[in-house]
Amino acid sequence: MRAKITRKKLYKVYRVLKPRGFLDLVPELKEKISSRRVIPENQQLESSPKLYVDWPDNFPKPFVGLVKNEARLGNNANWPKFERFLKTNQIPYEEYEINKSDFIKKGKKYDIVVWRTETSYAKHWEAADKVEIIQNHLGKLILPNSESVWMDEDKVREQYLFEVNDLPAIKTFISHSKEEVMDYIENCTYPFISKDKTSACSNGVHLLKNKRQAKALCNKIFSTGQKTNESYVRQKDYVYFQEFVPNYGFDLRIIMVGDSYFGYYRYPTKGDYKASGSGIVEKKELPHDVMILAKKARECLPKSYLLAVDFLQDKRDDNYYIIETSIFIGIESCEQLVIDGVPGRYIEKEGVFTFEPGRFWLQELMMQELMKDWMKRNS
Ligand SMILES: Nc1ncnc2c1ncn2[C@@H]1O[C@H](COP(=O)(O)OP(=O)(O)O)[C@@H](O)[C@H]1O
Ligand SMILES: [Mg+2]
Repeated sequence: MRAKITRKKLYKVYRVLKPRGFLDLVPELKEKISSRRVIPENQQLESSPKLYVDWPDNFPKPFVGLVKNEARLGNNANWPKFERFLKTNQIPYEEYEINKSDFIKKGKKYDIVVWRTETSYAKHWEAADKVEIIQNHLGKLILPNSESVWMDEDKVREQYLFEVNDLPAIKTFISHSKEEVMDYIENCTYPFISKDKTSACSNGVHLLKNKRQAKALCNKIFSTGQKTNESYVRQKDYVYFQEFVPNYGFDLRIIMVGDSYFGYYRYPTKGDYKASGSGIVEKKELPHDVMILAKKARECLPKSYLLAVDFLQDKRDDNYYIIETSIFIGIESCEQLVIDGVPGRYIEKEGVFTFEPGRFWLQELMMQELMKDWMKRNS
């Protein structure tokens, strides 16, 4: 039987081959990787109507520094949608080469910086350093804002925030004490899940089936450190253990930008339990109660221009529990919610969700929220 090529597998091949330049030697594979569109209604940039903001007469427009150096290509790149919004609304901008040594000098001339920060450890460290400087030391408005970058791509920090705010998250044990961890694995229920704090496409998520496996992992973590998906990072001196939630074989993502709500169901490939990164997506009506939960989570968590909350439905009580949150997600089309074949969004007002048909690039909706902040700041 031919093995199914999932997005996750393709991504692994891509990560190994790309830096070595091998992809250029195999044009068919390069084509396959760059042209693969898992979500079927993938559209091009102009597949959604342009988004115009109501700009008050004589209100000053900001000068925007737009970062364009994402690794994502083609339809998955974010900056072309940010750029389209700026052009549509005649907001002056230029490309901001934020990776370079003069990013502070250059940053001073902008009013607003727009940057789809990346998710690997190294890129995220760079983003955390620079977003902090640009927002809190140069005093600029920046997307993403530093409060949201603090929790982004860090399951440990997210979990602490869920706990502080009593949010319904999956039962999780985080400890930096070897003694406590060794005690824990003596008495806990198997199997359970162990995660590296920065994981994408399920790559850092592992099932521990018994005490022997758990002990071996802990000994590693509290000595040399456990390998992660990044060759230069080890998971060292902390564990993130999570109850394995018996579920209905999907996870549910709710995405919020301003008062617009979107979302979809994700399914694992056959024989797996991990939906993230499988690329198998179903778009249909979203449960009202889960949107209310997502709204509550957003109200408690640090402000962000986009917040996606991923949930699992527990078979034991049918309740939904938070897996994790993200301030950026892979956006492959302008149809992030589709009900009975009709793309659109829910508009939330005082806990009531009204479906409105239409196609929307989430990046443009984020820009709209950012401009509201600009107007508030300057009025
Ligand atoms: N506690 C859990 N119990 C059962 N399945 C889980 C649990 N946590 C995660 N999963 C599954 O694994 C996938 C990846 O987990 P997640 O924590 O979201 O990692 P990633 O950051 O790589 O997306 C999820 O989409 C879900 O399908
Ligand atoms: Mg996930």
